[in-house]
Amino acid sequence: MEQRHFGSTGRRVAVIGQGTWNIEQGDRRAAVAAVRHGLDLGIMHIDTAEMYGSGAAEEIVAEAIAGRRAEAFIVSKVLPTNASRKGTVAACEKSLARLKIDHLDCYLLHWPSRHPLDGTIAAFEQLKSDGKILSWGLSNFDVGGLEDAQKIAGVGRIACNQVLYHLQERAIEHAVISWCAKNNVAVVAYSPFGQNDFPGAATPGGRVLSEIAAAHKASPRQVALAFLTREKNLLAIPKAVAPSHVKDNAAAGDLTLSDIDIHKIDVAFPLGRSRELPTL
Ligand SMILES: NC(=O)c1ccc[n+]([C@@H]2O[C@H](COP(=O)([O-])OP(=O)(O)OC[C@H]3O[C@@H](n4cnc5c(N)ncnc54)[C@H](OP(=O)(O)O)[C@@H]3O)[C@@H](O)[C@H]2O)c1
Repeated sequence: MEQRHFGSTGRRVAVIGQGTWNIEQGDRRAAVAAVRHGLDLGIMHIDTAEMYGSGAAEEIVAEAIAGRRAEAFIVSKVLPTNASRKGTVAACEKSLARLKIDHLDCYLLHWPSRHPLDGTIAAFEQLKSDGKILSWGLSNFDVGGLEDAQKIAGVGRIACNQVLYHLQERAIEHAVISWCAKNNVAVVAYSPFGQNDFPGAATPGGRVLSEIAAAHKASPRQVALAFLTREKNLLAIPKAVAPSHVKDNAAAGDLTLSDIDIHKIDVAFPLGRSRELPTL
């Protein structure tokens, strides 16, 4: 699968990763197997958070990556309510304990917090100096918030901004993607299937996706993932437990769309005028 620079970190990460929100809600063995299956197929970027299942998702990831730490790029997130200077360090240590690892590849602020951002960033930098995280990033930040963070941290410190991005929700295309590209910040698309509100084959947009998919011998979801990662600083983290879904998503990492395909999708799923950063 194609690998891309993860912002300014100097690391290369597979373009398709794997989300773990709600992964604890079904059969535990199937959830562990899904993450392992992803690793087998080159899905190294595993996205989790202390919030997911109140730590249960991190425990599932721990089981899945046991003995395979070097293959994985593990991202977790601090809850905004915990994101004080001391709270961030404590939350990270708890995540590491649940994940049974000694460092995270990237640690994110889950969404903007009422705790002052300079305290959260100071904690991230301390965790980095202590070797507990290799890089840090943000999530659900608009351009104003990114500018504030960069003013505090300096250029080249923010590894990524993880944001909502799917075919029916393209607001980040107005300004967030270009700001991140200019500042060498990876954009990680979360809920790339709109949390499974994916356009059905009978809808006009769904028909366009099916047509493009048929021409590439691909699936409509693979076409969607290829569209969402069509620029070099974009990555996506679909969540999948069903083995066929994991396989489908991994193969999307090798699909490249033509300019005509991209234009057709652009017309079928218009950008929209709202510049406001949406969140779930
Ligand atoms: N930073 C944030 O604020 C934030 C917010 C939301 C999400 N996230 C992250 O982003 C990840 C992904 O987002 P999400 O979980 O909201 O939803 P999503 O990835 O948009 O959709 C997940 C749904 O799509 C299904 N699916 C996956 N691949 C498929 C395929 N190839 N064919 C058919 N169905 C497929 C899954 O089914 P099965 O599971 O049954 O296979 C699941 O029902 C999360 O898990 C989380 O890690 C971050």
